[in-house]
Amino acid sequence: MPDRPQSRAAGLARGIVAVALLGAGFLALLIACSTGDASTPEGDAGIATDAPLDRIAAGELAVRRRACGSCHQSPDPADGVMSGQTTPRLGTLSYPANLTPDVETGIGRWPTARIVFAMRHGVDVDDQPLCAAMPRFDLEDEEAYAIAEYLKSLPPAHHAIPASTCPPLKPKTPPDAGTDAIADASQDASQD
Ligand code: HEC
Repeated sequence: MPDRPQSRAAGLARGIVAVALLGAGFLALLIACSTGDASTPEGDAGIATDAPLDRIAAGELAVRRRACGSCHQSPDPADGVMSGQTTPRLGTLSYPANLTPDVETGIGRWPTARIVFAMRHGVDVDDQPLCAAMPRFDLEDEEAYAIAEYLKSLPPAHHAIPASTCPPLKPKTPPDAGTDAIADASQDASQD
């Protein structure tokens, strides 16, 4: 066939163009990531924070150091980073929550301060106490907010976790003392 070398050349040219396009696309992605540009519709899916990258990195480090993933990471990586566990903690009916910013199954509608409050005091966004299986962490503001920003930067994972059940955390108290305890708790909350 006389036109063979020609078509080979055309194929080569197409290959070069494809590689160049790929390279340009990759570069664009790199730039979008490094500037944290939230205005491009493709690159930012799920980034619910405009915190600087070093803060998010500090949050990721803190999450590793505190081993949040030992409970909140699904054993199947395909479920998503920190998307919770559908198996309860041993000996309890407490299911580690989905901490990704998914609105339906995660903490996508939680204000940052409420994520911080939950880590410190074990109270959820609806003012309900979390089960004791969730540790109460003693955290400085810097670490606590970095963790919250890191969680908000995760890809939202739609991963439904069963509701936990746990016995009341406080021993039974007479009704009056109970009311006081609630007043104390909300005072504590408003100081935070
Ligand atoms: C020993 C296991 C364990 C560790 C470690 C742990 N958690 Fe949890 N966490 C839980 C469980 C279980 C729940 C669910 C409690 C409930 O539903 O009452 C929970 C709930 C939460 C919630 C509330 C979410 C919701 O939707 O109600 C937040 C926020 C949270 N954890 C953040 C963290 C962070 C951040 C870390 C690390 C700093 C961490 N947890 C470490 C077990 C753990």
